[in-house]
Amino acid sequence: MVLDASDTTAIHLNWVMAALLNHRDVMEKVNEELDTKVGRNRWIEESDMTNLVYFQAVVKETLRLYPPAPLLVPHESVEDCVVQGYHIPKGTRLWVNTMKLQRDPKIWSNPDTFDPERFLTSQVGVDVRGQQYEFIPFGSGRRSCPGITYATQVTHLAIAHLLQGFDFSTPSNQPLDMKEGLGMTMLKVNPIEVLITPRLPSVLYQ
Ligand code: HEM
Repeated sequence: MVLDASDTTAIHLNWVMAALLNHRDVMEKVNEELDTKVGRNRWIEESDMTNLVYFQAVVKETLRLYPPAPLLVPHESVEDCVVQGYHIPKGTRLWVNTMKLQRDPKIWSNPDTFDPERFLTSQVGVDVRGQQYEFIPFGSGRRSCPGITYATQVTHLAIAHLLQGFDFSTPSNQPLDMKEGLGMTMLKVNPIEVLITPRLPSVLYQ
């Protein structure tokens, strides 16, 4: 439980920040949305989240391109079964390659491009709960992640607080490298270095 929850969430937060730092136009749009929907005179709260539709699309787009568990976890059939006409013998081990599904050019236009708007236009209504098999960052079915709601709340609140509270830049102002590590969970190989500047009235940081 602890491993499934902490590693994946930390990795996901890291990829969201990396993607935003590499797409400053997107980061600016999120900041504009925060300023319009929440303002700068109070910290964001959970109840604000439903109004932040662009920000939600950013989080989804990060899960699409950088799923923290790119091969889900292995599943094994406990008895012989037939799935869509295919005979699956007992003991067959199944690995689901979400990286491939979520970058499938037959489904996603410009699949390798970070484009949150797709979730507000062509892929509107596609969510993370495993009902659309082209996008299953938390798996699908009864062994899918039981922490979806919690993970979604934590991620959105953590990143929104960081973005609302600070302007972010990188020391070199060069694009970050997005090298992906090997393993059951997809770590970003190189850490992110950032410079932060407060963007709210100082009283809010006390
Ligand atoms: C962004 C964060 C997270 C991601 C991307 C994620 C993703 C996943 C994935 C892909 C699986 C395997 C699903 C499958 O094979 O079909 C899984 C399983 C699991 N996750 Fe998460 N997870 C996250 C956060 C959490 C959190 C916060 C918790 C708990 C509070 C949690 C608890 C679990 C558990 C217990 C399982 C095993 C379920 C089973 O085997 O039946 N996860 N998660």
